[in-house]
Amino acid sequence: MNQVHNAVRRIGVLTSGGDAPGMNAAVRAVVRSAIFRGIEVVGIRRGWNGLINGDIVRLDEKSVAHIINRGGTILYTARSEEFRTPEGQQKAVNTCKLLGLDGIVAIGGDGTFRGALALSQHGISVVGIPGTIDNDIACTNYCIGFDTAANTAIECIDKLRDTMQSHERCSVVEVMGRNAGHLALYVGLAVGATAVLVPEQQENFQTEVIEKIRNARLNGFTHYMVVVAEGAGSAYDVAKKIKEEICIEPRVTVLGHIQRGGTPTGRDRVTATRMGYRAVDILATGGTNRVVCINDGRMCDIDIEEGLALHKGIDEEEWTVLEAMTGV
Ligand code: F6P
Repeated sequence: MNQVHNAVRRIGVLTSGGDAPGMNAAVRAVVRSAIFRGIEVVGIRRGWNGLINGDIVRLDEKSVAHIINRGGTILYTARSEEFRTPEGQQKAVNTCKLLGLDGIVAIGGDGTFRGALALSQHGISVVGIPGTIDNDIACTNYCIGFDTAANTAIECIDKLRDTMQSHERCSVVEVMGRNAGHLALYVGLAVGATAVLVPEQQENFQTEVIEKIRNARLNGFTHYMVVVAEGAGSAYDVAKKIKEEICIEPRVTVLGHIQRGGTPTGRDRVTATRMGYRAVDILATGGTNRVVCINDGRMCDIDIEEGLALHKGIDEEEWTVLEAMTGV
């Protein structure tokens, strides 16, 4: 067993922002890794709001049993407006002091990390774990939940394809991702989409969508699958434009929150477990203000502020491959 840093006796763990499959596995890993080192864990419910309101639950080995396979988060989650204010942050600091928390592990996306940064500026030790289906945290190649969400979307689109093929139709499917196209690009590659529209590459609707469908028709195809990232615009608007330009009437499906639920894949469970372990390791050895990352398959961590300042574009290589695979 590693040495416990003198100051660290009790830590808190919370999930914040949009939930992501694998968050429970991360909570479990934080709790088990902490107990392994002799550190107590307090669960903070409902994200940063829970820290403001002292909404807590004690967590032991047993309370996190049988959750590694469950989607959602047993700690509930929220997006906290109050935590953005100095007053809200001060209340959260007071809760940390009252409970004797020596550190916090915050699992979520960039909004969660901005909260973590604010808290660390008040002298509280905080470590972030990236959990978001959007996979849009720049300092890490991978965020917990992406693989499960992608596979859920792929399964749904495969089903859609059956009926689109039978009716010789065009389907426009909107996938989540907030302002980023990582999910849409990956899903588009996996379902063999006719065209994919992502916010990072949407200057030319003609070449990215219309020409792709036209080429597919010229190649003899009579059904078309267009995947649209929500950040690139509404699938209904895309369908309308397609109808205006090439006189076919697409059917629209917005996959929505179904993408956020479900049993986490093995990749999400294992990544979450490794990240949870690493987060506790950082706190236990006196680290603070860090985000756990996985880059080139290796676990690492980075200063939260530095991490938040980075920008993540879509994977250029995936996009190049997609260009060759679409419109045929
Ligand atoms: O960040 C995760 C995410 O699912 C985004 O893809 C989406 O834009 C957003 O959250 C939806 O948020 P809400 O659950 O508040 O509707």
